[in-house]
Amino acid sequence: MSKRIYNFSAGPACLPEPVLKQAQKDLWDIMGSGIGILEHSHRGKVFDRITAETEASCRAITNIPDDYAVFWMQGGATSQCYFVPANFLTPDRTADYFETGKWAQDSIKEVPLYGKLNVCGSSKDKNFSYIPTGSQVSYSDNPAYVQFTANNTIMGTEFQTEPDAPGDAFLVSDASSNIFSRPIDVTKFGLIYAGAQKNLGPSGITLLIARKDLIEKPVRELPQMMQFGNHAKKEGRFNTPNTFGVYLMGEVFKWILAEGGLDAMRDRNEAKAAVLYDFLDAQDFFIPHAEKASRSTMNITFKCPTPELDAAFIEGAEKKGLDGLTGHRQIQGMRASMYNAFPKAGAEALVAHMKDFAREHAAAAKA
Ligand SMILES: Cc1ncc(COP(=O)(O)O)c(C=O)c1O
Repeated sequence: MSKRIYNFSAGPACLPEPVLKQAQKDLWDIMGSGIGILEHSHRGKVFDRITAETEASCRAITNIPDDYAVFWMQGGATSQCYFVPANFLTPDRTADYFETGKWAQDSIKEVPLYGKLNVCGSSKDKNFSYIPTGSQVSYSDNPAYVQFTANNTIMGTEFQTEPDAPGDAFLVSDASSNIFSRPIDVTKFGLIYAGAQKNLGPSGITLLIARKDLIEKPVRELPQMMQFGNHAKKEGRFNTPNTFGVYLMGEVFKWILAEGGLDAMRDRNEAKAAVLYDFLDAQDFFIPHAEKASRSTMNITFKCPTPELDAAFIEGAEKKGLDGLTGHRQIQGMRASMYNAFPKAGAEALVAHMKDFAREHAAAAKA
């Protein structure tokens, strides 16, 4: 079998090896049915079982109560930018949004199509290097909901805890890049959505965990496909779903449970992130992007003193089997994405490269 390298990609990203190995088998024949997973009807008995198991494992990971629906949709997390205000925002209320990076801005852009927007906190003044808290947050008088991006994949910042929504407003979280990376109490949220391609599986499927009373009926007339309730009632099968995505998410959920659940994921992710952050804090060659109090355990962003050195760093990393470190074009530099399935040895290999590189180039950078 060919060799695998350390994949720091921000998403689609590396997946648990036991899951990939199981998928190889199930592509040929799943559950002894004589038919591979890609070939089963989404209305057949085998897929009924896969749907039920995927939902049950997801619920088991974080004790999701019965008054919450668990389902999945297509169109990426990006489609949720318009689904959310279309389904939830009434003309008499405001939608409050945290502006903490590109993904938050994409959501913010869609709100005026449906109603009133209030940006309740923004870190645009410092190129999204922090999460607004305390006096930096100002809610509107009567928000229907408060939306935030739990982890800012591009910037490398993360809400350390969820914000407190005022009054009867509910919280909406875009948790695409940190879902199930640490314990989460879903009862604090009205809706959590997450594109699967970082911590949960392949691209092309989005997990939703929603309070049932909120999605029963949209607040306005909407096409059938745009109503959350239809997707929930039909168990993510309102139309033909990404069947492979449902299956693979289910396998990743089982893997999370087998590895010890969300406490184990948190311990592992904190240990991995500490390898990089401890090194970054103890040196003065690389320049971290995120402020310390807002740092992400999933995406770690930093730069060399010049863009030329960034390019040389990435080239050298690739030669050592460290792939996917190029930062997003919005902030450039480097980004090391280390989701649940990423091994600690990869973080150690990256730090070893950083040490070598700093030693080699420190004098030139200072000259
Ligand atoms: C936090 C966050 N939200 C939304 C998206 C957009 O996801 P998609 O491309 O699946 O629509 C991404 C993609 O990386 C993301 O990281």
